[in-house]
Amino acid sequence: MAGNRTFTMVKPDAMAAGNMGNILQKIEQSGFRIAALKVTRLSHAQAGAFYEVHKERPFYGELVKYMSSGVIAAAILEKNNAVEDFRKLIGATDPAKAEAGTIRKLYAKSIQENAVHGSDSDDNAKIEGGFFFSALEQF
Ligand code: CMP
Repeated sequence: MAGNRTFTMVKPDAMAAGNMGNILQKIEQSGFRIAALKVTRLSHAQAGAFYEVHKERPFYGELVKYMSSGVIAAAILEKNNAVEDFRKLIGATDPAKAEAGTIRKLYAKSIQENAVHGSDSDDNAKIEGGFFFSALEQF
């Protein structure tokens, strides 16, 4: 059975553009409850650790540099079928391929500066949420 929590980050491009509020509003209006939320900034080492699964990809170095370039908002979201439904809400990784009305279509600048992150599985949602929030910070 699909889990009911996922993890997201509003990325530096969307934060710098002043779109955090719009994005969180769209998330809430789409039926997700915010179970944890913080604005923070990742160090280069922390961004590298978060995206360790992509270490062998050609874009890893640039991704880590970008994700540590400014503040982000990290959040745990709750809804039935959270991982899959949230991936539908944000749209394809490349905003040029994202469907109309999705968060990336509305706010992303490029395949790298793509406004938001969304976990790709229940297991990763748990790991990624735990990267930012202790048990006491998850409601
Ligand atoms: P995200 O969903 O956070 O997962 C990995 C991130 O790597 C992705 O969003 C993009 O920010 C980035 N990414 C994925 N594919 C590419 C690519 N081909 N070129 C540059 N960055 C990418």
